[in-house]
Amino acid sequence: SAPLRVALLGCGTVGSAVLRLIEDQADDLAARIGRPIEVAGIAVRRPAHHPDVPQHLLTTDSAALVRRDDVDLVVEVIGGIEPARSLMYAAFEAGKSVVSANKALLAEDGPGLHAAAAKAGVDLYYEAAVAGAIPLLRPLRESLAGDQLRRVVGIVNGTTNYILSRMAETGAGFAEALAEATELGYAEADPTADVDGFDAAAKAAILASLAFHTPVSSADVHREGISAVSATDVARAAEIGCTVKLLAICERVGRAGDDAADGDSVAVRVHPAMIPTTHPLASVGGAFNAVFVEAEAAGQLMFYGQGAGGEPTASAVLGDLVAVARNRVAGASGQGPTGYADLAVRPMAET
Ligand code: HSE
Repeated sequence: SAPLRVALLGCGTVGSAVLRLIEDQADDLAARIGRPIEVAGIAVRRPAHHPDVPQHLLTTDSAALVRRDDVDLVVEVIGGIEPARSLMYAAFEAGKSVVSANKALLAEDGPGLHAAAAKAGVDLYYEAAVAGAIPLLRPLRESLAGDQLRRVVGIVNGTTNYILSRMAETGAGFAEALAEATELGYAEADPTADVDGFDAAAKAAILASLAFHTPVSSADVHREGISAVSATDVARAAEIGCTVKLLAICERVGRAGDDAADGDSVAVRVHPAMIPTTHPLASVGGAFNAVFVEAEAAGQLMFYGQGAGGEPTASAVLGDLVAVARNRVAGASGQGPTGYADLAVRPMAET
């Protein structure tokens, strides 16, 4: 049967891994979807920087690519707000489902994008936007859709977890551990988004939106990074049987700030916290991510794995691509109603 044709927007670390997986697994993907998947075009800013991809697929005109009649599905791995946002709205208007890895955009404009996808009767999936390879957003959105969530607590930034882990292991200060992380390629040249908690705050906003069916944006998240955590803080924590982690905490809270799952509000925050070494999140080392979920009926759940990197993140993108492709083959949308619960969003629970 006729192939489903994919527009790939962006071809950096994640995009090139997505391209490789689509090519390497073509037969398996065709069997799992019921139709072959084919890349129709790849939008990049500088084609000369991509000598390893089929040159005839490259274009600098991303706006034209998403609207092309021979494109069925769109994969957005450009990152950042623009042009990603305009391209996604254009894709929905053209009746195309979108798979995205864009945490900044989903944390800023998730409700608007979901509404546009629902209006067009197409899908919007973004598993790769939070915690890389770890299946987390679809479990929150689908597997736990019949439950009531109390709390989602996670280590969702690998760079800061690596730095804090090294501080605990070696007794190093923040600056020294950051320098090591940069040298080994864990931290980016500009580590601000990671160490100041912006990356984790965007992920927390997305997690809270899905967990509590309530629009939460990055601006709603109380945020504190790790640059003020000292070697002394880490040593003192160890003395009392604790470890310091940068946590993203999303909670359903009551009027008095308690954690009642039937509370009327949602509070979301990112800050360094001391947790007992016996807590499952305490043993998450290196650049790994883990998210702990507490639900009324399901009880406690833990999701653990690689939160970054080309291949792990591409795995999540491919999983979404299979889901939206299956829906397309079935002539359905997995979007479901986007109705929101009527919860207030508070800057921070009084703890
Ligand atoms: N900079 C992020 C991290 C990459 O360190 O976790 C994944 O979003």
